[in-house]
Amino acid sequence: MLEESKFDVHLKLWALRIPREFCKVATKLLNGHMLDRPRIKPITEDPTSEKTRYVILSERVQNPDLSDIPTKNLDELKKLCKIETVPYALTLGYSYWGAGHIAHLNIPDELLPYKDVIAKVIYDKNHPRIQTVVNKVGSIANEFRVPKFEILAGKHEMATEVKQYGATFKMDYGLVYWNSRLEHEHIRLVNKFQQGEIICDMFAGIGPFAIPAAQKGCLVYANDLNPDSVKYLKINADINKVNNNLRPYNLDARIFMSKLMAVGESKSDDLAVVQENMKANSEKKNTEIPGNKVCSPEGDLKESNGATAESCMEENGSTKSTDAHVAVKTKGSKNKRIKTSLPFTDNSWEHIDHVIMNLPASALQFLDVFKGLIHMKHWKGSLPWIHCYCFIRSNETQESVVSEAESLLNAKIHEPIFHRVRDVAPNKAMYCFSFRLPEEACL
Ligand SMILES: C[S@@+](CC[C@H](N)C(=O)[O-])C[C@H]1O[C@@H](n2cnc3c(N)ncnc32)[C@H](O)[C@@H]1O
Repeated sequence: MLEESKFDVHLKLWALRIPREFCKVATKLLNGHMLDRPRIKPITEDPTSEKTRYVILSERVQNPDLSDIPTKNLDELKKLCKIETVPYALTLGYSYWGAGHIAHLNIPDELLPYKDVIAKVIYDKNHPRIQTVVNKVGSIANEFRVPKFEILAGKHEMATEVKQYGATFKMDYGLVYWNSRLEHEHIRLVNKFQQGEIICDMFAGIGPFAIPAAQKGCLVYANDLNPDSVKYLKINADINKVNNNLRPYNLDARIFMSKLMAVGESKSDDLAVVQENMKANSEKKNTEIPGNKVCSPEGDLKESNGATAESCMEENGSTKSTDAHVAVKTKGSKNKRIKTSLPFTDNSWEHIDHVIMNLPASALQFLDVFKGLIHMKHWKGSLPWIHCYCFIRSNETQESVVSEAESLLNAKIHEPIFHRVRDVAPNKAMYCFSFRLPEEACL
């Protein structure tokens, strides 16, 4: 049975209530900060008055004080008319969702003899919208996490483009990792970051965390071992116009972290290294990286109380200020403002706010990289938040994950937070395990 309600996505947004005659000018001033979803108009009727309209703001605008929108544009709008910020709830239901031009099937074994017939029917009945029908073959075993596909009907073309929360992502679906089901997780995590913070994405793929974080005004060091992912990461940084604050790397995650923390390393040299590595790596794509083991925590599943710890993360995340990035406070405002014309200073060894580790099958095993990694003598401000993705099976526990992490770090983790991302199999769920790097681990 198809349960249509399972497709519902509930968005909690903010909208501006403005006099209807100012909609046109508001559209100009709020360009890039309004809801950007196909088939949804960001300006809509106000059910309480004919004279006013709602301008629905982007999912990236999280604060009712509108600090995510440049003050200059808001002030200009406020000079013209009265604006009021109101909460706006929007549900995208089954009928809203469309499909891209690649139909991706996971045909079960018993239907494999009919795969060509199935593909032909899907293709014939949906062409030209559907242009390629593919079937996933086998399980994902390679280190770049790229599924293998066989093309069953249509064009032999896997290059495609998707939109997530207003950012555009180009990719070749046959060469890079992509999972549209992680859309909410990408934005959930990015919403925890503040403008001006420094983010380090160890397994960045084509940039679904890195690009929106850079769009928000963070400085992002984004790395992936797959040269094709880095190629698309750079293309996506270009098309989303975030080149100024996104630094792409094509290294093994351990080497990447050591490089970022090496005191005095010049980041402009690194950009040249990226190019070289991409060339070298594409020649020997499937080399094994020694020392990358598969994580297998043990025990029972139990939810932790995320509430206190989550709010603690937000609190702590917004307090520190460091010389490692350019964070200019505007007069009279509590919020940091980035002057986009000023470059960030790339002293990554002095401060990083968040580290993203989205390689759930083995990210935990990379935690030992943090042992003694940070040079406390040069470090400024609080230690970074680590967001390490992992799988937990029904016979495993969050406690066992924490103790595995503690032994890899050789330090006690205080107030770990587990956020359940999605169920990947009947007895296996993906989690985001967040904690602040303990000082002990740095000694
Ligand atoms: C699960 S994907 C996540 C990609 C992206 N963060 C996302 O959410 O779509 C993991 C990524 O890690 C990369 N990867 C695997 N092993 C790596 C390593 N040792 N160092 C750096 N990147 C690695 C893969 O190429 C892949 O793009």
